Amino acid sequence: MNTAASVPLLHLTDVGVHFGALHAVDGVSLEIRAGERVAILGPNGAGKTTLFNAITGMTPATTGRVFLSGTDITRATPNRRAGLGLARTFQITNLFFGLTVEENLLLAARGLSRRKFSPWRNGAAAIDERGLIDTALSKCRLDARRGLAVRNLSYGEQRQLELAMSLTSSPRLLLLDEPAAGLSPAERIVMAEVIRGLPSDLALVLIEHDIELALSLVDRVICVHQGRVLVEGKPDEIRGNAQVQAVYLGRPRDA
Ligand SMILES: Nc1ncnc2c1ncn2[C@@H]1O[C@H](COP(=O)(O)OP(=O)(O)O)[C@@H](O)[C@H]1O
Ligand SMILES: [Mg+2]
Repeated sequence: MNTAASVPLLHLTDVGVHFGALHAVDGVSLEIRAGERVAILGPNGAGKTTLFNAITGMTPATTGRVFLSGTDITRATPNRRAGLGLARTFQITNLFFGLTVEENLLLAARGLSRRKFSPWRNGAAAIDERGLIDTALSKCRLDARRGLAVRNLSYGEQRQLELAMSLTSSPRLLLLDEPAAGLSPAERIVMAEVIRGLPSDLALVLIEHDIELALSLVDRVICVHQGRVLVEGKPDEIRGNAQVQAVYLGRPRDA
């Protein structure tokens, strides 16, 4: 059976990313279903960001295959992947600090309208830019900030804006690389609420250092270590897993 429902949104088979002798990602296979929320946990240097780069095309896989909705995108450009419904949060440096929140969102939304090749956009030429921006603003709790220059936002609000910008392409799969990094405790709470409130049909893959925060946001956890999948399970299974604690918290395995 090869119905749309049986094809995973994202499918990685034996993906490796090699930098010379270093196998930063070393034979990772995984599936993400539509609307699913998954955390990728692992110590620094485990290969999490490199795995994201293989998915987005910033650093294409050295070995293995990457499929998005059944389409082989292993060698596709980042733009082509974005056109197929993939988004990741922008780095903070992508924000225009002298422009307003709304102007930054407009630029992000305009980027999307250039993707005429996208099969998902056929027949939907009239993109509702205004609607996309309003939805992104409200989903990311920035309504009251829309007219403010980005340089006047708090750091937490700037991170919320990056997230809002990634939503303007109406993605089906969103990759979040440490969205709460550098945030104050109060800002982390807001970010967690924003992530929880994202559309339920949007699949999320989240890299997050704060384990409790990550576990509170997802249905499933994939733990990676030295480029490989170590353990996979539901948040409750991961919490008590001795192997995960040994690797992630640096405790001896028998502690
Ligand atoms: N462009 C690169 N060239 C060489 N080595 C890299 C490059 N990017 C990452 N690495 C190495 O790959 C390993 C995994 O890095 P990374 O994916 O950033 O880990 P994580 O995000 O889990 O902290 C690290 O040893 C890192 O130094
Ligand atoms: Mg990283």
